Amino acid sequence: MENIIIEDIKKITSEIKGIISVLEGSTVLVTGGSGFIGGYFLDVISFLNETHFDKKCKIICLDNLIVGDSKRIAALAYKKYLEFINHDISKPFFYEGQIDYIIHAASIASPTFYRQYPLETIDANVLGTRHLLQLALEKKLKSFLFMSSSEVYGDPTPENIPTPENYRGNVSFTGSRACYDESKRLGETICMAFYEKHGIPVKVARPFNFYGPGLRIDDKRVISDLINNVLHNEPITLYSNGSDTRTFCYISDAITGLFKILLSNFNGEAFNIGNDNQAEVSILELAKIIQEISGNSSQIIHKKSADKNYLKDNPHRRAPDLSKIRKFLQYQPTIDLKTGLQKSIEWYKHNYNLCS
Ligand SMILES: NC(=O)c1ccc[n+]([C@@H]2O[C@H](COP(=O)([O-])OP(=O)(O)OC[C@H]3O[C@@H](n4cnc5c(N)ncnc54)[C@H](O)[C@@H]3O)[C@@H](O)[C@H]2O)c1
Repeated sequence: MENIIIEDIKKITSEIKGIISVLEGSTVLVTGGSGFIGGYFLDVISFLNETHFDKKCKIICLDNLIVGDSKRIAALAYKKYLEFINHDISKPFFYEGQIDYIIHAASIASPTFYRQYPLETIDANVLGTRHLLQLALEKKLKSFLFMSSSEVYGDPTPENIPTPENYRGNVSFTGSRACYDESKRLGETICMAFYEKHGIPVKVARPFNFYGPGLRIDDKRVISDLINNVLHNEPITLYSNGSDTRTFCYISDAITGLFKILLSNFNGEAFNIGNDNQAEVSILELAKIIQEISGNSSQIIHKKSADKNYLKDNPHRRAPDLSKIRKFLQYQPTIDLKTGLQKSIEWYKHNYNLCS
């Protein structure tokens, strides 16, 4: 069976083929390239180098591996066009050569881990963003993509769901999630200040729950947690009553949209990105779908998490209003939840050693 990630990369490439020629011969800096989203960016550009470009696109990947896994991009290790630098992006980064594009995808993103590393999370999103924008200024960058989050909206009030980009949020600024939510918000503020003051061509993406291959199985986000249970034939364990709802976006749709944002001219703009093709699902419904498609007869059980802040300030509902990205960037998510989960489970089965 063809590797699921390669299948995804081919699909992404075919969907963005009209806009990618500008990357030929250019240099792209990706932070967090050993992580879930950054890893896909590296894979897509690498695939373009191998199949489309005569002049290779140079990739500089910065990651300090605080939660990333170097095995995720091991296949690219010997590619001459990839330079991996183990660097903490909360420290300034100096580079002599030209850089054309920056994709800032380095941040601890799993709530379990950002609660363990709150200061590192703040630093990556605030100091990291500041240093990278300073670098952008020196390099006369063509585009800068900041991976923000739908968490900037906090726990939206019912009349603001689905949530549009102009919603100002309902965020606790001292709670256990604040290190992430508030540092993403300040990261966006810094981006807009550099755009306003220096004309840096900044774009902001606000992802709504991406999932798929490449997300570490021990990452502690809900989909990898539940798949981890079924692959171990353990009870499918929910650390809540399962009533909170989410929408989930498969990674190939997400990366297609992120390239559309990066390579657009919508400087100084923020875009929601996710999947609105189906209604929100509750965490209990999600568990049942994973149980069904895995063919696993494990019971679904509810337990109290050992992490006392597991549910603290957890948003009850999260659903994107995608009118803006649909209208301006013709974004169209295509992978439904069942298909995406099937692909994910298949990938985890074949790559389990990568993550265990
Ligand atoms: N996956 C999602 O659904 C989602 C949702 C909202 C926002 N985001 C944002 O997208 C970006 C990527 O998320 P992901 O899911 O790929 O996360 P991930 O945890 O899989 O990857 C993040 C990567 O960043 C690296 N990193 C963290 N701090 C660093 C630092 N100081 N210096 C260098 N490297 C550092 C980690 O080692 C890891 O490889 C993050 O900014 C995240 O906040 C993701």
